[in-house]
Amino acid sequence: MAETLRYGLLGTGMMGLEHQRNLNAIEGVEVVAAADTFEGSLEQARTTAEGRKLETFSDYRELLKADICDVYVISTPNFTHRAVLDDVMKTGKAIFVEKPMCTEVSDAKVIRDLALSYSNVFWVGLEYRYMPPVAKAIQIASSGELGDVVMIAQREHRHPFLVKVDNWNRFSKNTGGTLVEKCCHFFDLMRLIAQSNPVRVMASGAQSHNHLNENYDGRTPDILDNAYVIVEFENGIRSSLDLCMFAEGTTNTEELTIVGTEGKVEAFLPTGLVRTGARKGWTKGVKEEIVINEEVLVEGFHHGASFLEHLDLKRAVENKTPALVNAEDGFWSVVMGAAAHRAIDENRVVEIAEYL
Ligand SMILES: NC(=O)c1ccc[n+]([C@@H]2O[C@H](COP(=O)([O-])OP(=O)(O)OC[C@H]3O[C@@H](n4cnc5c(N)ncnc54)[C@H](O)[C@@H]3O)[C@@H](O)[C@H]2O)c1
Repeated sequence: MAETLRYGLLGTGMMGLEHQRNLNAIEGVEVVAAADTFEGSLEQARTTAEGRKLETFSDYRELLKADICDVYVISTPNFTHRAVLDDVMKTGKAIFVEKPMCTEVSDAKVIRDLALSYSNVFWVGLEYRYMPPVAKAIQIASSGELGDVVMIAQREHRHPFLVKVDNWNRFSKNTGGTLVEKCCHFFDLMRLIAQSNPVRVMASGAQSHNHLNENYDGRTPDILDNAYVIVEFENGIRSSLDLCMFAEGTTNTEELTIVGTEGKVEAFLPTGLVRTGARKGWTKGVKEEIVINEEVLVEGFHHGASFLEHLDLKRAVENKTPALVNAEDGFWSVVMGAAAHRAIDENRVVEIAEYL
């Protein structure tokens, strides 16, 4: 392997460019190639290269054939991940695939099984774990300071889905549905904090407001814009998600609360506030701090999380150590999202065993 790690970007839309900006700022790595079916996205990648040499391809298979990369970063639309992974995994090179790992549970099973025996790093881009205030809250919970964790609550109140190339994100078939596409991040956090796998999911949700007046070749978007989801875990921990995607009028778009038998921690984004309290101190003992991570050189759209994740990905590739966010994490986050959708669609409690 060359001393400088050579990266190839598959998909250079919004997220592919965030990866490129991150990698531009990291020592010892170089983005040498990019592939995208849309010339406008490739042009943006050339601009983002800021004078660095970049080979560009309109077909990612040509990029793979050129064999000039050590690491492939897949940021194509969700519905393409399975087919793209099938091709990229044949190369044996390190892989970073954006979340959700894929859109269907059946595909998630296949990918997970292939990834388990993959000879190189296989990393899934569930980067919310790296958001500095979230990472701090997780560290406090895992230190035992809160006693035994009992409840985990998350709220995302934000803007509607952004415009994408061809607006592929307007249809559940392309994304896996909002609770897979967007909320795989939150399900991943639940499972990481709970240190346990889910057993059942309850949910209520709808498309109440967003994109209802949009029209794509006679079709109206079908993506949920609000939901409540409850997940129960094997170890008895319960967790909730409160999602609203027409809630721009807010200071913090994301809130995480972890309550244990001895205390409680809360993390807020984008303010970066982390609030920790112990039961015995009541309100007087509550500490507040703004958490930042000095290692972050590029904030991107994710509070530096994708930058920090790239630092760990690079270490894993260089040291030939396993991915810290792997295909098992990718699998479970898709299963939990799919189960939440099924709970809404069929108006019932969904047992995770239905998928296993
Ligand atoms: N980790 C995160 O927080 C986060 C945030 C946003 C998006 N994402 C994920 O990143 C991926 C890309 O999303 P985006 O927001 O950048 O979308 P986007 O539409 O901005 O970019 C997708 C790009 O892929 C290209 N493309 C489509 N099919 C292709 C193919 N077969 N081969 C090569 N290129 C192809 C499109 O032309 C486009 O340029 C999705 O999986 C999405 O879920 C993750």
